[in-house]
Parts: sequence; C-alpha cells; structure tokens
Amino acid sequence: MHPKRKPIIAGNWKMNMTAVDAVDLVRKLSYSIVNVKDREIVVAPPFTSLAAVEEAIRDTNIALAAQNMHWVDKGAFTGEISADMLLDSGCKYVIIGHSERRQFFGETDETVNKKIKQALKKGLLPIMCVGETLAEREAGKLDEIISRQITGGLKEISADDMKKVVIAYEPVWAIGTGKTATPEQANEVHALIRGKVKSLYNADVAEGLRIQYGGSVTPENVSQLMAKPDIDGALVGGASLKPDSFAALVNFK
Ligand code: 13P
Repeated sequence: MHPKRKPIIAGNWKMNMTAVDAVDLVRKLSYSIVNVKDREIVVAPPFTSLAAVEEAIRDTNIALAAQNMHWVDKGAFTGEISADMLLDSGCKYVIIGHSERRQFFGETDETVNKKIKQALKKGLLPIMCVGETLAEREAGKLDEIISRQITGGLKEISADDMKKVVIAYEPVWAIGTGKTATPEQANEVHALIRGKVKSLYNADVAEGLRIQYGGSVTPENVSQLMAKPDIDGALVGGASLKPDSFAALVNFK
C-alpha cells in the first residue's frame, strides 16, 4: 500500500448468487462498512443481479463492477453483453481477462486488449487480470508471461487512459486453492508489473497505477498482503461471498 494510491477491495462473485442473495449480501455489507472512506469497495455480481444490486447500493460507498463484456457496440452476438448495457445497469468497473475466462472461454491477450479499449472508450474502468499458471512459474517463465500479458493487454492504450486502468495480479495456482502467494511473492510480481508499466508509459502512470492481488485472499491474510508497498488492493472470490468476511477484508489493518 502506498499513501498516494487509494486501496481497492473488490469482490468477484463469479457464477454465484441469485439477485435475492446478492441484494441481501450488499445490504448487510453496507451497514458494516458505512463509515469507510479511505478505501474503495467494489462488488462484481453476475450480470443477472447487476440491476438489483445497483438499486441496493445506491447512495452507499460501494461501487458496481461486471465480470466481463464484449468489445463490440451491439449486434448479433448471442449471449454477450455490451459496455452500454453495463453502463445502463450502473457499472463503474468491468473485470477483463480473468484467468477463468482465459482458461475456459478462450480469451487471449488480443481479446483482452479489445475489451479494455472498448471499456475505456465507453467510460467504464477496466480491472485487467494477469497471472501465471503453476507450470509457467515452475518453468521459470513468470517474467515472460506477465510481460506478455501486460504488453498485449495494454497495446495502443494511451497514458491518459492508462490512468483509469486497475491491474489485478492473480496467480492461477492461488485461485480458489487456499494457496495464497506469500506477501513477498505477490509484491515481487506487483513490482515487476509496475516496472513494466513504467517502461511502457512513464513514472507518473506507474506510480499512480493500482495493482490488486487476487488468489485465496481471506480476512486472515489480507493485512499482511496490504502491508506490502506495491499491493494496492485485493480481488477476492470465495471470501467475498459472506458479508462478515467481506467487511473484514475491507477493514484490513
Ligand atoms: P479466490 O479468492 O476464491 O481464490 O478467487 C480469486 C479470484 O479469482 C478473484 O477474481
């Protein structure tokens, strides 16, 4: 955490929660974090709950994110959701290129890049996910993979636009496995990402960039992670599905 950057704690609910459950969760969450001003709080429900959650969090300190979107304005793309639809549902952020989308739905650095450009063009703030698999890490390819994802995902994004992007480092081996990267391991990659962004842009953009860590973050380990200088937030799956543990994440020390 760095004094210049506002921490951002986001819950990625993945394919969980009906609208009723989602509204119940954000209502309970909003009561327990009502006074929090020094950190940004974001929830990313499934598309089907966005409208209901938007209504429930209106006039609270919680912002809305979507988990994915298409890069085209509109048209014959059955099953897809456009940026305008997300704006219409009250989204401020959109998660792009989550490893589950890369792994199971064929997303590549190229499609990630198209989606980021579209999000920025439409006024949505992208949370771009990057991260290596265990096999890639063990083969000594960590730097190569992260650099490729950063360079490819951010291709032709201007420095001004880059100031609106959040990056989430989520090592694939730490997602939903209970195996968190150690604060040192995570910070090392965050510093690598910041260095890469500095070389692609400039020191100002790199210093302002918020980088979240994701992968088995819990109320028990969040404070040690957030104590590291290059870790500016968390993107949380499992532990964001219960109001008490989500509130505890937001209230990290
Ligand atoms: P878990 O917190 O369940 O490991 O999921 C992390 C994640 O993928 C958030 O996007």
